[in-house]
Amino acid sequence: MVTAKTIGFDRFGDVDVFEERTGEIALNSTNNVLVKVKKVGINPVEAFVRSGKMSRSAAPAQFHVLGNEVVGEVVKLYDNASNLSIGDNVIVKPGAGGYADYLTTNARNVFKVPAEMPLDFAAGFSATASTAYWALYGGFYDLKKGDTLAVVGASGSVGNFVVQLAKSFDVTIIALASAHNEAYLKESGANVFIDYRDSDAVAAYANKADFVVDASLFNKGEKVALQLVKEGGTYLGMTTLPQDTLGKNVKVVFLSRTPAMTNAVVMPFLFKFYEEHGLTLKIAETLPLTVAGVQEAHRLIVSDRAAGKIILTTED
Ligand SMILES: NC(=O)c1ccc[n+]([C@@H]2O[C@H](COP(=O)([O-])OP(=O)(O)OC[C@H]3O[C@@H](n4cnc5c(N)ncnc54)[C@H](OP(=O)(O)O)[C@@H]3O)[C@@H](O)[C@H]2O)c1
Repeated sequence: MVTAKTIGFDRFGDVDVFEERTGEIALNSTNNVLVKVKKVGINPVEAFVRSGKMSRSAAPAQFHVLGNEVVGEVVKLYDNASNLSIGDNVIVKPGAGGYADYLTTNARNVFKVPAEMPLDFAAGFSATASTAYWALYGGFYDLKKGDTLAVVGASGSVGNFVVQLAKSFDVTIIALASAHNEAYLKESGANVFIDYRDSDAVAAYANKADFVVDASLFNKGEKVALQLVKEGGTYLGMTTLPQDTLGKNVKVVFLSRTPAMTNAVVMPFLFKFYEEHGLTLKIAETLPLTVAGVQEAHRLIVSDRAAGKIILTTED
């Protein structure tokens, strides 16, 4: 048994719903790895969940603890039921429960951090780069040599990994983001940069993309994305899907996960890609893993912040 501190909520609402609770957690044959949390990556969808916008119920069924991008240290194992060792630094993708100082999870959600990978990167990349991987390899559109790929929200955590992973295809990459992110996106591998607020620049590339990945925050860039996709092309949404396609004959697909889309598939791919080609992650802010830190992180998600990931840390 370990006494764990968790930061969660038992009602939906603004950031003031967060509170800290303490409880005993124990290992068993299902949750067979105990991890001491070091860092947690924040994802925009967590603000949706906290606000209740993703729930049909008036309140969460139980005290809800968010957090699906965790880095920590293995401190205990149940029956040594995995190839992990005490003291390993690991990436944990528990689904939820990461806003905590300790968590238990199943070993299938746990991956050793490669020796050369910085912990901040490890904490911020696992869910977002996985999403980017499925956007490109999930069967929504098969990129072919010579295609044009447009990425809306290319300065964001997911969109930027789409750009970086797409470099290994022989395609033209159009990246859309705020003007101040142009240099960052050219460095990431974009062939063309468009400021999504510049309607003339957007119009110049209208109907040019075979495949548009809309990784804009809460689909705010949906209209721009639909302008870029050509007749017969594919639009991939991540938050919601468009009600209409501006009158175009466009295939509209949502990035939903199937049972085959497992961590066991994507994580080894990402580790290999990182080793062979490198991947980078811009960190916008690092905050303490406290109630105040979580509240500030959730405020920042919806603000007009600098590009990059928000990381919570238990370390000074
Ligand atoms: N379906 C799934 O499996 C899944 C998984 C993960 C994430 N998501 C969703 O994917 C989205 C992106 O997540 P993230 O972590 O990458 O978010 P993020 O890091 O906050 O990035 C958001 C991006 O949206 C852009 N943006 C903001 N307002 C825009 C507008 N009006 N028009 C066009 N672009 C705009 C930002 O560009 P600038 O900052 O340059 O303005 C930035 O590039 C979120 O909505 C998230 O919920 C879905």
